[in-house]
Amino acid sequence: MNRSLPVIGVVGTGYVGLCTAVGFASRGFKVITSTSDKLKADLINSGEPPFYEPGLKELLSEAVALGNLRCTLDREETVLESDITFITVGTPSLQDGSIDLSLVEASARDIGKALARKNKYHIVVVKSTVIPGTTVNLVKPTIEELSGKRAGIDFGLAMNPEFLREGSALYDTFNPDRVVIGEFDKRSGDVLEELYNSFYSGKVPIIRTNPFTAELIKYANNAFLALKISFINTIANICERVPDADVRDVAKAIGMDRRISPLFLNAGVGFGGSCFPKDLKALIAYSKKEGYEPTLLEEALRVNERQAIWIVDTAERKLGNLSGKVVAVLGLAFKPGTDDMREAPSIRIVKELLRRGAYVKAYDPAAIGNARKIFGDKVKLCESIVDCIRGSDCCMIVTEWDEFKDLAPSFFKENMRRPFIIDGRRIYDPKLFRSELEFEAVGLGGRST
Ligand code: UGA
Repeated sequence: MNRSLPVIGVVGTGYVGLCTAVGFASRGFKVITSTSDKLKADLINSGEPPFYEPGLKELLSEAVALGNLRCTLDREETVLESDITFITVGTPSLQDGSIDLSLVEASARDIGKALARKNKYHIVVVKSTVIPGTTVNLVKPTIEELSGKRAGIDFGLAMNPEFLREGSALYDTFNPDRVVIGEFDKRSGDVLEELYNSFYSGKVPIIRTNPFTAELIKYANNAFLALKISFINTIANICERVPDADVRDVAKAIGMDRRISPLFLNAGVGFGGSCFPKDLKALIAYSKKEGYEPTLLEEALRVNERQAIWIVDTAERKLGNLSGKVVAVLGLAFKPGTDDMREAPSIRIVKELLRRGAYVKAYDPAAIGNARKIFGDKVKLCESIVDCIRGSDCCMIVTEWDEFKDLAPSFFKENMRRPFIIDGRRIYDPKLFRSELEFEAVGLGGRST
């Protein structure tokens, strides 16, 4: 290892923590991570990621084998043995939409205790998604109290949000659009700028700002992407009422306007996952607490909730009362490439189908285990696509897995009782499918009935 490189400490081993750790380790940095979960620590130390993420296993096992990365159960050790410590612990939603900062606070306490025992200069970097003010009003006083040291003088402090996506987390770690450094003190900003400039060979723009703004940038980023999705879903609903209109062409054309950009304009059954819904709710709760009603953001959430129900209403319009109808749901994960079903639109869809009396069969290439925990025996979870659609009155495409994309109309015709497809992710050619069977799709005008 290059002796001039700082040693990196990472508290937390979720997507952000482990990808950050593996990213640094793969560039020759010594990295020490910590978790409170012994099973997770053992897995990481044997080179096995505790969750699936493309490419992670290879890089992690290499980093562990080279001695560049290890995981400890002792948070204080992470600080004592590193020069820069990143806090990447989770910030889950509370009942009222605000976020639970207890893990961030507990991390700050342990970091403070460790810094009390350390003489060398150390920088603490908050990477967890936290509401504005957390770094300066919670993390800073907690560390100061327990260490007896002052931020900006005895130790450095910064907020450095993360923008990686599940499923392409490592790609995003190595290829970010920009790095945001919210520095409490100039020295921390200088050190982090140098660190990232060397990591990205100076090719990634770096925005230096204060911690409050950096914290808000993360929320604003996710809120804007969520708004884009709710916007295109709104246009999709209008398209359906226009003869021959197609939201895909609308998205393609408006996406060519560089002021809009083509990304995150895929109409569908709405957004899910562990970030957009949680972060929107947290930003709304924060904003209200500060005396401002962010109605635009509230509406984006409402549009999203209604969008899942769109697919159920579409089935009912065609099939009549759903009671006793057999509905096949293809795709349960919140997006392809993951088994994650947190806040997945499929949950709202399945619950609504059950509420209206349908018999639900479902298939997902990765998420069946998680689906079983959520739905129990209320849903028939199938081993294959064909098992799922066999004998059904309607098939809904809810997640755009590649293995659904090549299915031909004849496959549905041969296996379904009533070959009726609702394409909630726009994976099929409407002309071809409409010429062969009953077909509806999000944002497609000229309903077949
Ligand atoms: C999102 C952001 O994209 C990341 O930049 C951010 O770092 C992350 O949240 C986070 O805060 O940790 P992620 O939730 O992993 O990443 O997934 P996305 O790829 O953004 O998809 C989120 C949801 O939006 C999925 O349900 C997806 O199906 C939906 N979506 C996405 C659409 O419905 N239409 C689109 O055009 C794009």
